[in-house]
Amino acid sequence: MGHFVIVGILVIVMTVLTYLGLDAAGLATQMNPVAASAQAAPIDQLWHWEVIVVSFLFSLIVVPMMYSLVVFRQKKGEMKDGEHMEGNATLEIAWTVVPLIIVVVFAYLGAYSLGEVRRVDPNAMVINVRAQQFTWTFEYPEYGFISTELHLPVDRQVVLKMESADVIHSFWVPEFRVKQDVVPGRITEYRITPTLEGSYKVRCAELCGTTHAYMESPVVVNSQAEYDAWIVEQVKIAEESKTPEGQGKVLATKYGCIGCHSADGSPLTGPTWFNLYGSDVKLADGSTVAADDAFLAESILDPNAKIVEGFPSPSVMPPYALTDEEITNLIAYIKTLK
Ligand code: CUA
Repeated sequence: MGHFVIVGILVIVMTVLTYLGLDAAGLATQMNPVAASAQAAPIDQLWHWEVIVVSFLFSLIVVPMMYSLVVFRQKKGEMKDGEHMEGNATLEIAWTVVPLIIVVVFAYLGAYSLGEVRRVDPNAMVINVRAQQFTWTFEYPEYGFISTELHLPVDRQVVLKMESADVIHSFWVPEFRVKQDVVPGRITEYRITPTLEGSYKVRCAELCGTTHAYMESPVVVNSQAEYDAWIVEQVKIAEESKTPEGQGKVLATKYGCIGCHSADGSPLTGPTWFNLYGSDVKLADGSTVAADDAFLAESILDPNAKIVEGFPSPSVMPPYALTDEEITNLIAYIKTLK
């Protein structure tokens, strides 16, 4: 009996020490970045409980083992066999029932947290998200504009309706905690209630291709007043972009062209659009072609028709079935990039 009391006390002491050690190493309460959403609280709380139970289970295994190694060690000259034991019903019931209770409690805590994270606010604001290699675009259907930045008002639930144009991506803002895959052919939902104003980043958390690591966009949580001002500004920009080149720029954002084709000459997955129009383009087969309307239209509709020197063949770009008007607008935009 004396051994049990000592081991029991040591297990409690070891649990506390393990927890404090993990916490000091930043694994208990400090592991995640700042919590910026209402959904973060139940997730962080669940994690905290798990660290406590992990500390206890670790101690429950390690302490009796170390205690036995030291206290029941074979003494010098002691040659007799160990005591024969035939099982222990009390112990077996205890080690079945206690873990069962822990698992059931955590199943409840997990289900409860999931319910909290998914709690639906019927007044949630809808924003459409489009993911594609390697950009995010955000459409505000109430106002009819598209942005490459996600701006959200603080303390209001938003539901992101997300779709992918190509492969599986994953929408992840660490400060919001929740992560959701974006899957081609269906719309997935992501609900979040930002609670802390600030600038964050959405990262793609699903390996989706060569520049997956750079598939990130700004996420800004604004006060209601700042958010309203931003909306007014975006609506104004959208109004001004009713020209062909303005429309082309909107298309370049909407279809994600800008994810691979830079507007300033910087190297990305595809050839830059800077100073492209009217230039002589060297092709992989050694010939040269003038970058005119016909060449650009052909490259949009059938990227494999002509491969530019230094870029992989077959092309990594999928064909884009744009309308004639869209192509005209896009080329009008490319013309402005000088
Ligand atoms: Cu998109 Cu990784």
